Amino acid sequence: MPEPSAIRHPPSAIVCVRNVRKAFGSLVVLDGISLDFERGKTTVVLGPSGTGKSVLLKHIVGLLRPDAGEVWFDGQRVDNEDEHDLVPVRRRIGFLFQMGALFDSMTVGENVAFPLAELGDLTLDQQRDKAEVLLKQVGLPDIQHKMPAELSGGQRKRVALARAVALEPDLVLYDEPTTGLDPIRADVINELIVALRDHTGVTGIVVTHDMQSANKVGDRMVLLHSGKVLCDADPEAFHESANPRVQRFIQGQADAEDLAAIREGFAAAPSGEPI
Ligand SMILES: Nc1ncnc2c1ncn2[C@@H]1O[C@H](COP(=O)(O)OP(=O)(O)O)[C@@H](O)[C@H]1O
Ligand SMILES: [Mg+2]
Repeated sequence: MPEPSAIRHPPSAIVCVRNVRKAFGSLVVLDGISLDFERGKTTVVLGPSGTGKSVLLKHIVGLLRPDAGEVWFDGQRVDNEDEHDLVPVRRRIGFLFQMGALFDSMTVGENVAFPLAELGDLTLDQQRDKAEVLLKQVGLPDIQHKMPAELSGGQRKRVALARAVALEPDLVLYDEPTTGLDPIRADVINELIVALRDHTGVTGIVVTHDMQSANKVGDRMVLLHSGKVLCDADPEAFHESANPRVQRFIQGQADAEDLAAIREGFAAAPSGEPI
């Protein structure tokens, strides 16, 4: 008999999420989510704001613990691992946080070198050299000595990305990497996500509600709705999905219930009255 874990963990998946449930008080955010994230691929997790996309990412790095279910990283169960044992796991995962937070009191170079300094394997010169290479890769040479406050939003995201990949992770988690950027700057980030996958073979999980970004970077599309996986498919099948909710999301249309509620609201108000 094979081990149960062997059945549950296809070797092609670097992250396996199994029946994960997470509630905050009475709010059930993840209601039994199961997903396999394939190595070397970029999976896009889509869903409207507040559907639990960031909460899902935080479970993968052990920043949140599920109420039920399991999370595995490269064959190791991580949801019940203690903080100490999570350190080597987290070292293999780059996390581009939603706000792309940089340390404002450090230079750009120090920000990028921060994970290298923490690791303690490299001299200061080596850290600086590596930071320079990383900044070049994200298209920002010669800005090591600038302070984060001097950068645009798009540049900050790119610096945060350079920092997220400093330790050459096996997996990069991107939380809303293009949110708040204009379409041109967003496209630069999309290009970087694709280039990183193509050049290093890194696995990516991109959380977004930006369909254009999803189309550009996604090898696979997952749509979350009401705490469940509504659709999990390759981009072609996703776009051809017969599920009306999927189609509405793709086309950026409001839910039928929301539309009905708005119509009722207008119908109830005397016409010509301000609402
Ligand atoms: N630590 C927390 N404590 C309480 N509620 C939380 C916490 N983290 C997230 N939530 C709630 O869970 C829901 C999903 O959040 P989130 O994953 O951030 O959504 P999104 O899909 O926009 O990333 C939201 O209603 C949010 O308010
Ligand atoms: Mg979020």
